[in-house]
Amino acid sequence: GTRTDLQNKKILITAGPTREPIDPVRFISNHSSGKMGYSLAEAAVERGGEVILISGPTSLERPAGLYKYVAVETALEMREQVLKFFPWCDVVIKAAAVADYRPKNYSGRKIKKKDAEMVLELEKNPDILKELGEKKDRQVLVGFAAETNDIQKNALEKLNRKNLDLIVVNDVTVEGAGFGVDTNIVKIIHRNGTIEELPKMPKKEVANAILDRILQYLNYS
Ligand code: PMT
Repeated sequence: GTRTDLQNKKILITAGPTREPIDPVRFISNHSSGKMGYSLAEAAVERGGEVILISGPTSLERPAGLYKYVAVETALEMREQVLKFFPWCDVVIKAAAVADYRPKNYSGRKIKKKDAEMVLELEKNPDILKELGEKKDRQVLVGFAAETNDIQKNALEKLNRKNLDLIVVNDVTVEGAGFGVDTNIVKIIHRNGTIEELPKMPKKEVANAILDRILQYLNYS
């Protein structure tokens, strides 16, 4: 790219789903393909940023020009890597779909089928973004919100509770938005309450629109 507006900016991006293992052959996960996060990483590299991409399992090709790529599987592994690099960075964008729960007991052996019903006990994963919100000093912190109802209300609540600068909301029930597809339809909510509604765009363009907003915050911190 020819743009250099993110030169010398250190940007941490998370992408993809997490996988929470039940036994050696099974796991809990979600429909995240990684496309939104990888588009952000590509766009940030093209604009001159030093980009660390921390990614859950995806089938996507690793973007060229990254400063660092870290592959993780579980929410706990993602947390460890994000916290490790957090002090280094100027911007964090959390596009990953982190599992809120993990199986309480991992079985080292494949769980056998029985005649009766079975109950899988889950325990809560830590909220990585909320922890970052508590630690943040100079960092611009950007979250995503995948919603199906009360979109704006839920997103605003997350922005406040997690101490974010921006939250990017997608209604994952709408065609052309959210999981798996190459486009997204988002609202960008700022911490002062301003809400911008973007039309349906390729994820790469959504990524650049988000980076444009982040620049405003970088220049005023
Ligand atoms: O990967 P794609 O197929 O391209 O799909 C894109 C997407 C739908 C995954 C993406 O646009 C998106 O919405 N990502 C966030 C999904 C999500 O987990 O939303 P949430 O509302 O559950 O979480 C809110 C925020 O907190 C997110 O930034 C999430 O990364 C973060 N979080 C959530 C739970 C947790 N335990 N730790 C976290 O850090």
